[in-house]
Amino acid sequence: MCSIIGYSGQLTLAAPLLVESLKKMEYRGYDSVGIATLNKGNILVSKGVGKVAEVDQQMQLNKLPGEIGIGHTRWATHGGVTDTNAHPHYSCSANIAVVHNGIIENYQELKSELEKEGHIFKSQTDSEVIAHLLERDYEQSNSSIVDAMTNTCKKIRGSFAFVAVFNNGVIAGARFDEPLIIGISSDALFLSSDVLGFLKYTDKAIFLDNGDIVIIEDKKYTIFDASRKNVNRPVTQVAWELGSADKGKFAHYTIKEIHEQSSTMLKPLEPSNDFETFCKYINNASNVYITGSGTSYNCGLLGKLLLSKFARKRTEVYMSSEFQYFSDTVEPDSVVIAISQSGETADVLHSVKQAKENGAKILSIVNIPTSSLARMSDCFVTLNCGPEIGVAATKSFLNQLMILYKIVYIISGQNIRFDSAELVKLQKSVQSVLDLDFKIRNIIGSLDHNVKDIYILGRSIHYPIALEGSLKIKELAYVHAEGIAAGELKHGPLALIDKESVVIVLNPNDETYRDVLSSTNEIKSRGAFIIGISDLKNDLYDVFIELPKLERYLYPIVEIIPLQMMSYYLAVQKQLDPDYPRNLAKSVTVK
Ligand code: G6P
Repeated sequence: MCSIIGYSGQLTLAAPLLVESLKKMEYRGYDSVGIATLNKGNILVSKGVGKVAEVDQQMQLNKLPGEIGIGHTRWATHGGVTDTNAHPHYSCSANIAVVHNGIIENYQELKSELEKEGHIFKSQTDSEVIAHLLERDYEQSNSSIVDAMTNTCKKIRGSFAFVAVFNNGVIAGARFDEPLIIGISSDALFLSSDVLGFLKYTDKAIFLDNGDIVIIEDKKYTIFDASRKNVNRPVTQVAWELGSADKGKFAHYTIKEIHEQSSTMLKPLEPSNDFETFCKYINNASNVYITGSGTSYNCGLLGKLLLSKFARKRTEVYMSSEFQYFSDTVEPDSVVIAISQSGETADVLHSVKQAKENGAKILSIVNIPTSSLARMSDCFVTLNCGPEIGVAATKSFLNQLMILYKIVYIISGQNIRFDSAELVKLQKSVQSVLDLDFKIRNIIGSLDHNVKDIYILGRSIHYPIALEGSLKIKELAYVHAEGIAAGELKHGPLALIDKESVVIVLNPNDETYRDVLSSTNEIKSRGAFIIGISDLKNDLYDVFIELPKLERYLYPIVEIIPLQMMSYYLAVQKQLDPDYPRNLAKSVTVK
């Protein structure tokens, strides 16, 4: 949830580099920011509440002197959003400063133990215990940093990664179920939550294993495993393109990423993805489970319907936050298809780990091939949609759908049309919906700015898209939105509908068309404002967004786009920042 960066090198002074790196990783969490640098044996800390650019401007973070340093963006879990709770945290002597990502489950016990010994805490965070534990363990281990790190890590329970700077010039890091990556260039070493933190300077990275501790001293790094044994880990070359995200001509990353979809949607189908092996695993399995969180879960819901209907492969789908309570019962002859843009979502990793321990094969669909999820999978395919910076998933969702359709195409023995001719048509259709941008902006502009409730109706394969559309509206525009299986309307939600309601109906001309029209009638007679999304116009709609004609099962791929755009323009109309919605983070690495 938070991002951490450590730097030791001769490239530049530490502070400006740390600030730039944090800006690149701000998607991970962004309520406060801070850095610590080492200058003439003293550790200097500067931190505050706000986004990186704001805090940097107010506090002149980038002016801190020193060639070694650490930095952090925070997404609060323990302790309010205050300057004091921002990282880095000092030890009592201020000879050590620490930045942390994750949760320390036993921090209260540790804190009271340390307080009894005389340690004075300044913040309400769980993170600060690491600084004090390290201080104590450093003294007790005759100033051996590796011993201090090992002993401190042994005492902490939870999922965490942290980086500490010591006033003798050493930077040390530990990885326990949260990402930590070493960046290696000839002039500098980095420790970072994401390769984006150092990709401007080097494409050489080491993805630490769980339980690894790394010590950076005298321009060298040394890695120790959990048993304190010196180990080597492979150096990986990371794709430079990952670091190349900018907004181009667009006002925000989110709308840029929405518009990129027609060019990125075919990328996952390129030969670099081994669908044959992926599908072989599915064909050989007796049980198929799909899991994911948020947007990825919504994609999984559609995957279940498509696999069951077109490939006759019965599939169960679970939200990862729920699956963790069931995945210990997964049978060994099962496959679990885990969908996750980041490949770092804690709920996903945890549930998958349990299923794997039970003998299930793990297949994943990720955007980051070096992610924890990809590395724990028996087989994975990548979204290849390039970096997605907007916190709300857009282009990654479309590519997840494309991958699922491809899987269904293969497993069903081509029972659906998804060949190259169809793909060319589909790509044109996506572009034609993207071209409705101006129209959609105007539709949103004409809505009451204070719209309180938006309902999205769809049946069958359109229902997961209704859910995903409502998630986008909540995330980006902070408006209450609900995706409803249209047939369920009369079983409860109809009581909510009145003249103030805005209802979006997903109603392509397929086997659900007539039934959705009946539901639309019921809404119309309660006076709601109706936005129809369909290839067939109807007088019931107050506003009509026209979709191109497609094979009936392919509509989800195009109908999500107007919903993404509506969410974006609702946010803009309310003067919100669509790229960084409040309280959310792109990669949720805590349970
Ligand atoms: C967070 C994000 C959501 C995202 C979910 C799953 O909650 O705010 O937008 O859908 O994580 O992320 P993943 O990387 O696992 O797909």
